[in-house]
Amino acid sequence: MAASSDILSLLHEVRPAHSLPRPFYVDDAIFRADLEQIWCREWIFAASVAELPRAGCYVTLQLGSYPVVIVRGNDGAVRAFHNSCRHRGSRICSKASGQSAKLVCPYHQWTYETDGRLLWARDMGPDFDASRHGLKPVHCAVTAGMVFICLAETTPDFAEVKAAADRYSAPHRLEDLKVAHRSSIIENGNWKLVMENNRECYHCAGSHPALCRTFNDDPDLVGSDDSLSSPAGAAHVARCEAAGLPSRYLIGGNEQWRLVRIPFVGEAVSYTMDGRAAASLIPGMPFANAGSLLFFHYPNTWNHFLSDHVLNFRVLPVSATETEVTTTWLVHKDAVEGRDYDLTRLTEVWTATNDEDRRVVEENQIGISSPAYEPGPYSAKQESGVIQFVDWYVRTLAETLGGPSAMAAE
Ligand code: FES
Ligand SMILES: [Fe+2]
Repeated sequence: MAASSDILSLLHEVRPAHSLPRPFYVDDAIFRADLEQIWCREWIFAASVAELPRAGCYVTLQLGSYPVVIVRGNDGAVRAFHNSCRHRGSRICSKASGQSAKLVCPYHQWTYETDGRLLWARDMGPDFDASRHGLKPVHCAVTAGMVFICLAETTPDFAEVKAAADRYSAPHRLEDLKVAHRSSIIENGNWKLVMENNRECYHCAGSHPALCRTFNDDPDLVGSDDSLSSPAGAAHVARCEAAGLPSRYLIGGNEQWRLVRIPFVGEAVSYTMDGRAAASLIPGMPFANAGSLLFFHYPNTWNHFLSDHVLNFRVLPVSATETEVTTTWLVHKDAVEGRDYDLTRLTEVWTATNDEDRRVVEENQIGISSPAYEPGPYSAKQESGVIQFVDWYVRTLAETLGGPSAMAAE
């Protein structure tokens, strides 16, 4: 399996509303195609803005072959750069995050301003032009308190999702939140299995005892397309909208992203073991019982915006069978740990849920790796979100490999 034409013909074998053929979950050439055709072309969620509270704060990430650094400049702007020195290419920032007045390459100390300009390079001679050796920029955009990057020269449109996500998330005051906790785990499964698992709650009752105390997994409530068209779902949306919280189901970007505000179970207001708040109410939220604003953006993020905290989830592919999942818990910047929130209470439900999801993804990967595996049918009632994700993936990969008509050729 290598050539684009081979992958395209395999895409033609995908059966509607069925899991993908085995190579899509195990094959190194398809993994490389995923990286090149999707991960290096699309907008990718990289970091929470709250991770960059001051000038000089930076975070790094590895996106396929590309090390990237995201830094807040002295002018307050958040920028992204290729984390590769313009001297001989050394990675400049090796830590996951930090704060530095300048970005200094550890190899020979070429020194860059936080806006990417090369400020100083020792003994490079009179003809050396520093202005031609600034850090290479990476496209960077911020919405809903989330920094997205795009490695492509020409980026897909971001204006539509930015306008919608900014509007829906505004009451949660993302610019006034801080990081309460951050965790990264490696799941031994293909990145698509991680996303597929996130897009359904068919598995929730059997896997997530803590989450199911508050998260409503009833497809009759949320509707087979998450649209909250049921009477109870519509009532929640109407109540929140009346209080100034954008909540209606909204899907856009060729179905690459979706926003909707779902209700919790009963009187619950947060993802805690007892359903009560985990932190003080975010100023600007009209009431605690607002449920969770859900925001996914393919290929790599899903998010929950609550009345008392916000959860960002970032998926990064490591190999065909390994995926990193990073979770960031945000609370209001004035909230004091021990007084306004208890870290264990805030994080325990999703820490458990992440580990439970890791286990089901890893078992899924092991079973799919069997030569006896064959694609199985998704439940239209319970797994419509998975069908929607897989359709997006197949459509996107087919278009980039063979043009828009690639899948319509037969
Ligand atoms: S490689 Fe960065 S200063 Fe030499
Ligand atoms: Fe799950």
